[in-house]
Amino acid sequence: MLILGIETSCDETSAAVVRDGRRILSNVVSSSLEDHRKFGGIIPEIASRRQMELIYPVVDEALSRAGVSLKKISAIAVTQTPGLIGSLLVGVAYARGLAFAMNKPLIEVDHIKAHIYANFLTEGGPASRASVPELPAVGLIVSGGHTSLYALRDYTRFQLLGETRDDAAGEAFDKVARLLNLGYPGGPVIDRMARDTDDPAPGIRFTAAELPGTFDFSFSGVKTAVLYYQQKHAGEKGYAVAPVVRAFQDSVVGILVRKALAACRKKKARSLLVGGGVAANSALRRELTLAGEAEGVKAFFPPMSLCVDNAAMIAGLGYHLAAAVK
Ligand code: KG4
Ligand code: ZN
Repeated sequence: MLILGIETSCDETSAAVVRDGRRILSNVVSSSLEDHRKFGGIIPEIASRRQMELIYPVVDEALSRAGVSLKKISAIAVTQTPGLIGSLLVGVAYARGLAFAMNKPLIEVDHIKAHIYANFLTEGGPASRASVPELPAVGLIVSGGHTSLYALRDYTRFQLLGETRDDAAGEAFDKVARLLNLGYPGGPVIDRMARDTDDPAPGIRFTAAELPGTFDFSFSGVKTAVLYYQQKHAGEKGYAVAPVVRAFQDSVVGILVRKALAACRKKKARSLLVGGGVAANSALRRELTLAGEAEGVKAFFPPMSLCVDNAAMIAGLGYHLAAAVK
């Protein structure tokens, strides 16, 4: 069964063709990030205007790379929520029109759950048994817009365990990078700087809120702590940005690892499925993998192309949702 997926929730315009919820035949992603860089963040109006221009050619390209015509598509899956409202509207209106015109079912997909589902996709031939995550699982989504923990019993049964009460993890990376004048997006540059810094400087320690007894997160406090530290110490003799960055990243990674593993324990999860742009973070990958191994939980990270926003994950989860309503 071939599903055409469409994703336009943030700055990307993406379309993909996926076979049987598993095998990616094409996954075209066009980003307007360059248009936003000079503003230091996504400008919704610019994003949705670009998406209106890009949606037609991107869908055409996805079909042609997959080597299939629209007639061969069984259903159209589209990101319904969450995201920028103008951007979501472009994708949903386009997908609805296409589904109506072609007389195909339309499947509306939750973007966050699709990020978790990305771990079940394969870019090559059929997935080998060993590489398919075992259920039950816990999903950790860490992106520029979201930070959530879900329990996953099967492909369509997700239970929200907790989420951020303020900034998303990626947003915290971006805001800290901005206040330290490191550019946008902040995650990759902070990751690199922290990796090149052996140890956080003695005396620099930031603490992300624990929010005990919950699976919720809060990152605005640690961001503010970095701001105050910077205001107090920048300009002093011997001051360097790298150890500050390293201490900030340690605090964010630490809380993500502790909460994700606690959720795995509670839900007796066999796998931890990570997704979203911050899943690219090298320290987070290493720490989740090690902590998981110590507790018999295998941590999965999609390849980078599937960590960021993409339509293949929408088509993949859409396949199971279509099967579930039959
Ligand atoms: O998934 P994504 O495109 O965002 C949303 O869908 O909302 O991810 C973008 C976010 C940005 O905040 C970026 O700073 C962060 O992911 N990011 C990283 C890294 N690479 C990207 N954060 C930490 N470490 C990285 N290596
Ligand atoms: Zn996303």
